[in-house]
Amino acid sequence: MEKLIVALTGAGISAESGIPTFRGKDGLWNKFRPEELATPEAFFRDPKLVWEWYDWRRGLIAKAEPNEGHKTLAKIEKEFPHFYLITQNVDGLHQKAGSEKVIELHGNIWKVKCVNCKYETYEYRTPLPEIPPRCEQCGGLLRPGVVWFGESLPMDALQKAYELSRESLIFIVIGTSAVVYPAAELPYIAKENGAEVIEVNPEETPISRIADKIFREKASTGLKKVYDYLKDRYGAER
Ligand code: APR
Repeated sequence: MEKLIVALTGAGISAESGIPTFRGKDGLWNKFRPEELATPEAFFRDPKLVWEWYDWRRGLIAKAEPNEGHKTLAKIEKEFPHFYLITQNVDGLHQKAGSEKVIELHGNIWKVKCVNCKYETYEYRTPLPEIPPRCEQCGGLLRPGVVWFGESLPMDALQKAYELSRESLIFIVIGTSAVVYPAAELPYIAKENGAEVIEVNPEETPISRIADKIFREKASTGLKKVYDYLKDRYGAER
């Protein structure tokens, strides 16, 4: 079987790029209520409010650069052919760091979708020229191309993520509190199918219980140690 190495990332890997996480002491959900900003009901109730929040987040992300954690994952992808990256993040920093095989479970904050004609495109302007933005095809209301609470994940991305988790030999979980499903199920699926689970997180999470190896530190330093571990394990057998 291919030496499949899979990584699952969450907001924590972008923390060192200056992007706030959702939970924990400075988390976004401490300041904002997700049910008012990150649900379809919130959006259709007040598209302007929701877009003002996303415009603010897009502004933050536009100024952010990938950190050593993102860069190390891009390096691992280049050196280990059977490496795949699954992310819950919508900031696009993995791609900006050079990762190409990226599965975005929760969409991408630069993508916009028309609620009327379903037209999809990438809109990188920040701040947005008009709020809420309108579809250039039909003039309909555009929504952020992200997955909100209560919405289903993109089927192709989710199916691929389940497949990779089942087939993985090593499953690395980085910077996620592992409380939001179905993404949080992936490490358990990997474990059940015999994978070695590695966690990189300064805090304990539910995954800590099933982890074979834990780097209780930030992604930027912990992933360097994971890289060295992979080189020791597989470098020689390349
Ligand atoms: N390096 C690694 N991990 C870190 C760092 C860091 N520098 N800083 C914080 N963390 C960890 C925290 O300890 C926490 O476990 O990152 C995790 C962030 O957890 P959350 O804020 O809950 O983010 P995430 O797990 O990605 O949330 C999942 O919830 O709100 C939804 O759709 C949103 O994709 C998101 C999903």
